[in-house]
Amino acid sequence: MPSLTWPTKHQPKPISAYLKTEAILYPHGERDLPNETENHLILGDNLRVMAALLPEYEGKIDLIYADPPFFSNQRYQARVGRGEDSRQPEEWELAKGYQDKWKNLDDYLDMLYPRLRLMHRLLSPTGTLYLHLDWHANSYARVLLDEIFGYERLTNEIVWTYHGPSPIRSAFNRKHDTILFYTKNNNYTFNVDDVRVPYADSTVETFKSSKKAGFGKQPNLKRGKVPEDWWYFPVVARLHSERTGYPTQKPERLLERIIRASSNAGDIVADFFAGSGTTAAVASRLERRFIVSDAQWRAIHTIRSRFVQDAALGEGREGVRIALQREGEVPQQVYAKQRGAVKLRGNALTLNPNLAPSLDYWEADPDWGGGLFRSVAQSARPRRKGEIATELELPFVGNQICIRLVKVNGDKLQQIVKRGA
Ligand SMILES: C[S@@+](CC[C@H](N)C(=O)[O-])C[C@H]1O[C@@H](n2cnc3c(N)ncnc32)[C@H](O)[C@@H]1O
Repeated sequence: MPSLTWPTKHQPKPISAYLKTEAILYPHGERDLPNETENHLILGDNLRVMAALLPEYEGKIDLIYADPPFFSNQRYQARVGRGEDSRQPEEWELAKGYQDKWKNLDDYLDMLYPRLRLMHRLLSPTGTLYLHLDWHANSYARVLLDEIFGYERLTNEIVWTYHGPSPIRSAFNRKHDTILFYTKNNNYTFNVDDVRVPYADSTVETFKSSKKAGFGKQPNLKRGKVPEDWWYFPVVARLHSERTGYPTQKPERLLERIIRASSNAGDIVADFFAGSGTTAAVASRLERRFIVSDAQWRAIHTIRSRFVQDAALGEGREGVRIALQREGEVPQQVYAKQRGAVKLRGNALTLNPNLAPSLDYWEADPDWGGGLFRSVAQSARPRRKGEIATELELPFVGNQICIRLVKVNGDKLQQIVKRGA
């Protein structure tokens, strides 16, 4: 088999790192909740994160969706606040998103190659990897995946098409991405009946009007057809309710098809380039467990808000416990001490209304021991219309209540309220 080489190609030894759990999110929590969680949201470089997961998860992950930087040589910014309306710039600001800048292709492949190898190790024997890229680097990645998985393990090259404005005048508009679908073995999960789509109206008409159509072979028109390997889903546009403001967010419908096809309820779905958390949000809704990570605090923050918002809107899954972890090398998040942000009366917390417009979300641990933060009550700014709730009812009150507030600009505040104080 031909293979791809470049001067710096190497397989770094997985660095033994450790993951520290800082907080657990219990959307609409109660008293006496277990500290073990089925879902993980991890801040850190994914090489170290995946290495840290190996002892527990090698050969255990059922599906990995990977949407890394594309080698596009761009810096992507996030829109924070209510970022969907360009006509109201006072409602949002730009913040650091993520970088897709490399010295050269070698540098990019040095990032990608060892990570793909770790993903292969983490996948279960019936597991699947979907690697999402575009024309910038997909052909190089494909050769690497052939080396790691085997040429015969490329199951589909999926083309995701979309449309939208573009300034390009010297070539055709580049409006598709490529998703490489590799399986670890011959025997893999593929739920064909869960992803069928209706036949086109014209096909249904043809079969209704002529018995000879399809050379006499009648498809099961009711059951629908297996989708082709080219998919059209619109990109997440300004006015879509799922838009988070995090750059290059992928549509939920795209992840829904992938997760339904290649995993079952209860399976573990992972995404180590998680971004805005599309994989986590969809996996959770489809009753899969998830492990997602990102190197950017803004991404982890966006994912957290997404879960809090889903819970507030009644769209999330009840009783989902999510551990917020940090890879050991990443410095701890600092919460500045704040007084007077919140008042406690009985079991009810009231937020200072002056703070409300600047917040993305606020949450409380009603019985904080000074270490692990167990968030059992949360309030988030609704995605589109409406204001953040300034009242939070606690399910119980211990001796020390810790309230954490996260501002749109990324500042983090913390207030401690002692009972009876
Ligand atoms: C294309 S975006 C993912 C978008 C995501 N699929 C979504 O729907 O929002 C790529 C993400 O990978 C993250 N990333 C890049 N290099 C990383 C690394 N070495 N470790 C962890 N995350 C990384 C970036 O911070 C960025 O959020």
